[in-house]
Amino acid sequence: MRWRVGILTASDKGASGEREDVSGQVIREMMLDIGAEVVEYRVVPDEFDILHDSMVCYCDEYKLDLLLTTGGTGLAKRDVTPEATLAVIDRQVPGMAEAMRAASLEKTKYAMLSRSVVGTRGSTLIINLPGSPKGVRECLEVLTPVLPHALEILS
Ligand code: MTE
Repeated sequence: MRWRVGILTASDKGASGEREDVSGQVIREMMLDIGAEVVEYRVVPDEFDILHDSMVCYCDEYKLDLLLTTGGTGLAKRDVTPEATLAVIDRQVPGMAEAMRAASLEKTKYAMLSRSVVGTRGSTLIINLPGSPKGVRECLEVLTPVLPHALEILS
C-alpha cells in the first residue's frame, strides 16, 4: 500500500516567507524514499487555531494515513504544536515519542527540550517532529522502521 502523507510545518518565519522550509523538504524526501505519497503540504504560523484546524482537515477531509508536523515543539512562548496535537488526537502513542527523545538524546542534550506528541485521530497517525532539519532527519530515522506495522494496524 502507498501511504498518503501530509506535511505541516509550524513556523512563523516560514509562513511569512522569511525562511525557507528546509525541514519540510527533508520530510518530503524521506517519505519519497520509503515510497510514500505526499498529498498535502502547508507552512503555517505558530498559531494554535491554525494548527488545530489544519490537522483536523488533514485527518477528517483528506483522510491521510500519516501527518508529520515539524516545529513548535520547544519551550518558546509561541511553541504550541504539542498543545494543538493533544487537542485533535483520540489516543496518544507515548512509546513513539519516547523513542524519538531517547534516540535524540544520544545526539544532543537539547533533545529533552522537545515536547513532541505522537497520537492517532481516526485512522491517521500524527507525529510531531522538532523544527530543525537535523532533528527531523534523526527522529524520522528512528520511526520509519516501525511505520509499516503501525500504519497497517491503524488502517
Ligand atoms: N532532536 C534531534 N534528534 N536533533 C536535534 O537537533 N534539537 C532539539 C530538540 N530535538 C534536536 C532534537 C532542540 S535544540 C530543541 S529547542 C527542541 O528539539 C525543540 O525544537 P522545536 O521548537 O524547533 O520543535
